[in-house]
Amino acid sequence: MAALKVRPGILDIAPYVPGRATADDGARQIKLSSNETPLGTSSLAIEAYRRVATELHRYPDGSAFDLRAALGRHHRLDADRIVCGNGSDELISLLAQGYAGAGDEVLFTSHAFAMYPIAARAVGATPIAAPETDLCADIDALLEQAGPETRICYLANPNNPTGSYVPAEALRRLRAGLPDHCLLVIDAAYAEYITRNDYSDGVELVDAHDNVVMTRTFSKIYGLAAVRLGWLYGPAPVIDVLNRTRGPFNINAPAQAAGIAALEDTAFIAAAVAHNDRWRPWLEQEMTALGLKIHPSIANFVLVEFPPEPRRGAEAAYRHLLGTGIIPRQLVNYGLPDCLRFSVGLEDENHAVIGQLRAFVSGGG
Ligand SMILES: Cc1ncc(COP(=O)(O)O)c(C=O)c1O
Repeated sequence: MAALKVRPGILDIAPYVPGRATADDGARQIKLSSNETPLGTSSLAIEAYRRVATELHRYPDGSAFDLRAALGRHHRLDADRIVCGNGSDELISLLAQGYAGAGDEVLFTSHAFAMYPIAARAVGATPIAAPETDLCADIDALLEQAGPETRICYLANPNNPTGSYVPAEALRRLRAGLPDHCLLVIDAAYAEYITRNDYSDGVELVDAHDNVVMTRTFSKIYGLAAVRLGWLYGPAPVIDVLNRTRGPFNINAPAQAAGIAALEDTAFIAAAVAHNDRWRPWLEQEMTALGLKIHPSIANFVLVEFPPEPRRGAEAAYRHLLGTGIIPRQLVNYGLPDCLRFSVGLEDENHAVIGQLRAFVSGGG
């Protein structure tokens, strides 16, 4: 019998490592490893989710019509140019499936979100990581790598895990410098948190050009990571490609219902932005005061660099924190072995983080 043959590239994929869900010890687990919101889910979304419970024998609306209409109203976008995904992860993969293959290159930055190389390799394309400058996307370095084979350029803005961002002007420069045959994917998973006026989620670039899409998610500020819901806004031909290749019922009914209700709860989102605006700077300030190096973040997480010494380093800090029930994200897989990433938590969680880091830094760990 002939042995099964795996497609080239698949076994080169380093599987995605999700944030750890449980700590080693500690009465209370403080999970800060996946950039989830600490504020839970809007009660409107939970009610909508529950209402669907009596309809579970029905297939969901395969076009996610009401959800796309709600997104269109909320963001003032043409609902026909929106496609929803089972998390934005699915959309990232579907884009690679639609636009890249063997012999093609897929571009991103050296500490970009881990799904980009996975999506590239899964379709047999070659992932190309352009160097960053001070953990920020370097537009010139990206453009230097873009060539005749480059089919997709993924840019998370702001980026996870670095928290850095590309201002609107530089984003425009990136788009203008990429070849027309290259699709620019602006992954704006954290856009709702951003209050800077030099930031753009990329919508105007999508509107102005044929080769730009923007992806978004309900997993972060909307507190719906468990139901897996993302969406993409793009030019009609790209939407057409994705609608041909996605699963016919890729968004389950509870996700559609919860997503629509979550969009309506603007007070919930405003509170989440205010919470983040208060606590991220506080965490960064307290960590800096402990002598740790902070890489500036505009999202709902903080990137902290530890000294490259075994007893004072990131691995030792991680072990210490896990032992107290606090779960940050290790970033060895992202090529950042000296760093840990902490999602912004509730007030007492943030105090617990600083208290335990203080104990660790002062040798009490
Ligand atoms: C930059 C970025 N893009 C996409 C995702 C995936 O989000 P989703 O839960 O919608 O698949 C994440 C999740 O961590 C992310 O950080």
